Amino acid sequence: MLANQSPTTSGLDKFTANILQRIPQRHLHIPFDSIQNDEQYQHSLLATLQTISLTNPFYAKQTLESLLGHRAQTVISGDLMDSYYDLLSTLLFSKPLLATDPDLIQYNITPQISIKVWETPMIISGAGTTGFRTWEASLFLCEYLAAEMSTTTAMTTSFKGDHKFNGLELGCGTGIVSMFILKFLQSISGNGSVCLTDGDSSLIEKLAPNLTLNDITATEAETEIATPETSITHKSQRLWWGEDSIPENVDIIYAADVTYDSSVIPSLVTCITQALTQGVKYCLIAATIRNEDTIRVFELALDQVPLRWEIVQERETSAGGNYSNISGQAGLVWYAEGTPAIKIYKIEL
Ligand SMILES: C[S@@+](CC[C@H](N)C(=O)[O-])C[C@H]1O[C@@H](n2cnc3c(N)ncnc32)[C@H](O)[C@@H]1O
Repeated sequence: MLANQSPTTSGLDKFTANILQRIPQRHLHIPFDSIQNDEQYQHSLLATLQTISLTNPFYAKQTLESLLGHRAQTVISGDLMDSYYDLLSTLLFSKPLLATDPDLIQYNITPQISIKVWETPMIISGAGTTGFRTWEASLFLCEYLAAEMSTTTAMTTSFKGDHKFNGLELGCGTGIVSMFILKFLQSISGNGSVCLTDGDSSLIEKLAPNLTLNDITATEAETEIATPETSITHKSQRLWWGEDSIPENVDIIYAADVTYDSSVIPSLVTCITQALTQGVKYCLIAATIRNEDTIRVFELALDQVPLRWEIVQERETSAGGNYSNISGQAGLVWYAEGTPAIKIYKIEL
């Protein structure tokens, strides 16, 4: 468990996380009683809705309407009610976002660590890339890493002092997993370096605003986020699997949703094999199981090298919008109904 992490997350934490993640309104469960009993939360919720209204006014309007339309006078305390209605009145004529409009999505991976990402979720393959949105496997990998890295001794202590986390992400897309690791290292005053890579150079160029949004200084060169106790560096570069070489001094490789089609598997496995051969200790690959045949191609390709692999974590297909439960901790990240199963592979020589 992270330092200062409360053992359970409240319905209010979950509601805030849900609206920051923009879960569909029909799936929002508003904890009316808890909101009514917590004036401090009512203030923070207003601020959250004001922030949402800047990038997605229609979503803020819908949420306000659900909140105020139900038991109107009683949920929000008297003094604040005017401010809520003032906000709603500015949003009355707002329209749903267009498919090409970006929105600022926030994923609360843990109660302490959230990641913000500019996404255009409706554009999936129009520009020849799949990286304009965050894919569920990367959220699940963040949740897995949060649980793993936070468990008392194993990982947390090993990222302090002389022991650094030296990681590299393949096919990083919006960069959420690496940003989570960087923020986690900051939160524990740890040491480490993170290299964000993707084969699509245009995605690498788009990383800078996301890094800045998350208070991770963004420059083209290796960047240090240092305090007297910590040394955390990051850099971003294009890396096409099987063609571009893996930088030196990487211990862990991680990637999410990079096994989405059998055509990409040979070059991915070549890249993983090269990395392990040159000294990378292990690779973590979070795979969304959209098609059993594709994942079988991946497993067979690993067997053929041969590389050792095991599934270290998995979640089943979501029957309804639901949350992960890793190490007995209910997560805050919401997964849409029908999200396919996700498996995390640990691969070694
Ligand atoms: C489905 S997206 C996943 C993005 C991100 N990891 C996530 O989970 O949100 C797959 C990513 O792999 C990258 N990719 C696909 N083929 C690649 C290759 N041969 N070499 C490097 N990157 C590749 C794409 O550009 C894309 O960003």
